[in-house]
Amino acid sequence: MRSFMGRDILSLKDFERHEFFRVFEIAERLEPIARNRKNSDMLEEKTLVTAFYQPSTRTRLAHEAAMHRLGGHVTGFSDAKMTRAGDWYQESIKDTVKMLEFYGDVIVMRHFQQGAPHEAAKWSSVPIINGGDGWGEHPTQILTDLYTVLREKGRIDGLRWLAVGDMRMRTMHSLGYALSQFDCPITFVAPPEMSLLPEYKAELNQLNVHFSEAEHVEQAIADADIILVEPVVQPDYTKSRDERSGKEVGMTPANYKITRELLATKAKSDAILLHSLPRMDEIPADVDITRWSRYWQEAFNGVVMRMALLALVLGAME
Ligand code: CP
Repeated sequence: MRSFMGRDILSLKDFERHEFFRVFEIAERLEPIARNRKNSDMLEEKTLVTAFYQPSTRTRLAHEAAMHRLGGHVTGFSDAKMTRAGDWYQESIKDTVKMLEFYGDVIVMRHFQQGAPHEAAKWSSVPIINGGDGWGEHPTQILTDLYTVLREKGRIDGLRWLAVGDMRMRTMHSLGYALSQFDCPITFVAPPEMSLLPEYKAELNQLNVHFSEAEHVEQAIADADIILVEPVVQPDYTKSRDERSGKEVGMTPANYKITRELLATKAKSDAILLHSLPRMDEIPADVDITRWSRYWQEAFNGVVMRMALLALVLGAME
């Protein structure tokens, strides 16, 4: 098995099946630290650098919380405008990373340009974790989601997925790549202008992902064991920042919305509902306390998953 020590986490396309299970095993072992709200000293000599060129609540803070739970240190920026990369200089990824690598032992990067973390990894002597790159990928989020499925359902293979939202989204790309390693058919439901891109469909076919498409959640929800939802009303992920600036935002059409009534009348009784958040109105708040919702559990698991990844790439666990 390839060691995780020193490894970049850039994409789930290069993750092998046994590596998913290795990460899940480490997450399960570290989970009690987070569940008991304790800190350990596992990474007390290590520092995480956060390099966020795009806003984030969960990804940055979950990585930071994970580092604190393992006794490590954190430095970095949450807004590139406060750095030379976001001012007049527009400092390059190379020049920025050639500094950051001396400030810590691992870097988590979110960027509005697809491939920016890959570019960083070319120049960095410390591991780079992709915290979301443009429309590219969001590997740590989908690792979190798969871990949530494993913990909630006791298995991953043999479960049928329904993915609803904007299929250009980075989470959807990482999801497709990940499911190529499992026996998990998936149905995608998206507005026509946000449907799977032809090149991505070709990749899924090449990776032997068993996928289909439907127009309305009602056509696919009855068969789904896992329902994963993302917004169709959302900002432009290729911008460093997309302000709402008083503009009206649209409502989510019924085709892409998971309501309490839909779950009660059409969904499997033991299906689980995931959303990486933030949400708009695609999952109304009254769904939160139904038995299907698992997005708060997913949020907790987001910390646990980042603990596992940091422990692995920093060589504290093998
Ligand atoms: N799920 C997720 O990536 O959330 P943030 O944009 O808040 O990091």
